[in-house]
Amino acid sequence: MASYRAAVIGCGRIGSTIDDEQVNRPQFRYPWAHAPAYVEAKGVDLIAGADLSRDQLEDFKQRWNVTALYTDYKEMLAKEKPDIVSVTTKTTERAEVVMAAAEAGVKAIYATKPISRTLAEADAMIETCRNHGVIFAMACHKNWSPWLQMCLQSIRRGDIGEFSSMVANYSWSFNGGHSHTLALFRQFADAPAKWVFGHMNSDEAAAGEKDLQGTGMILYENGIRGFLNNGGWLNIDFIGRDGWFSCRNEHADFEMWSRYPDTREPIRRQFPNPKRPRSSQQAAVEGIVKNLDEGTEPLCPGEYGREALEIAVALRESHRRGGEKIDLPMADRSLGFQID
Ligand SMILES: NC(=O)c1ccc[n+]([C@@H]2O[C@H](COP(=O)([O-])OP(=O)(O)OC[C@H]3O[C@@H](n4cnc5c(N)ncnc54)[C@H](O)[C@@H]3O)[C@@H](O)[C@H]2O)c1
Repeated sequence: MASYRAAVIGCGRIGSTIDDEQVNRPQFRYPWAHAPAYVEAKGVDLIAGADLSRDQLEDFKQRWNVTALYTDYKEMLAKEKPDIVSVTTKTTERAEVVMAAAEAGVKAIYATKPISRTLAEADAMIETCRNHGVIFAMACHKNWSPWLQMCLQSIRRGDIGEFSSMVANYSWSFNGGHSHTLALFRQFADAPAKWVFGHMNSDEAAAGEKDLQGTGMILYENGIRGFLNNGGWLNIDFIGRDGWFSCRNEHADFEMWSRYPDTREPIRRQFPNPKRPRSSQQAAVEGIVKNLDEGTEPLCPGEYGREALEIAVALRESHRRGGEKIDLPMADRSLGFQID
């Protein structure tokens, strides 16, 4: 018997339909959209959906057999009283919807990336959720990926020696797809970012609102370094004194290099192979169920989403100032991106 009632606000691609587009990416574990993740996950039932578009709601009903459908998400919150709410609208209304859900008394919010348009909005979302005792998780779902979790546990056991740095090759923008990388870096670094510097692909990219692509470095408070290289389709290396993990091809292939303890000879192995692989989105939903049961923090709290946004803003700022190092947190909270 499921214990928690879940609802989706924003029944579009990431809320409901995105898996339809992924037939050519067999390396992905599904479900990726939020609604099917609730359907698959243990400990939760999908009970309602809200969207401005009636067509989108009809599609949601057909796909997921959910009949509590609303064009006004506030009415849905008041009538259905969901425990967990996914916020998968566009970025423009993310802050408003997250704060309204917290004020309506939900227990947990699972919001897609990026967290918000501005740092000030992100601050307000985190504070509102904290004041209402609501778990606020960012849907940077790689932080729950069973494969990446096994890499993290291995690093923390010391299997690749002293952990020093992370390198990501990716062609996506800092304020878009890289939100996932930055949330993952934060989890592996296990410390907040201290400063960044960056070089964008062009002055136009740094001046514009979209597709902020380029190269950057992040120093975390504990000395761990993160490097963002522009190119490829997401390869990440996690590097230690005595080995490294390579996560290739959008984390479809994992390889570990380490040393035999006695001889110090290098060993290369395929790693890891969880016995029961789940999609990271499903793992995230089940993680939030566990957080609610145990009163614990999610693996990607709102603070990680805010830091991802802040790093993107700071990398752009660094480029604008000719490659200057930018200390975090940034004083000007009005900064951000006018996207979506
Ligand atoms: N985590 C990921 O991997 C991932 C992947 C794709 C998109 N995203 C993010 O998801 C967000 C949504 O993108 P999308 O491609 O799903 O967009 P979309 O347009 O397909 O879906 C957004 C839906 O929100 C609805 N909506 C807007 N305002 C609303 C409101 N006030 N109340 C109820 N519904 C409302 C729209 O009608 C629409 O159906 C974006 O911010 C994007 O960055 C994340």
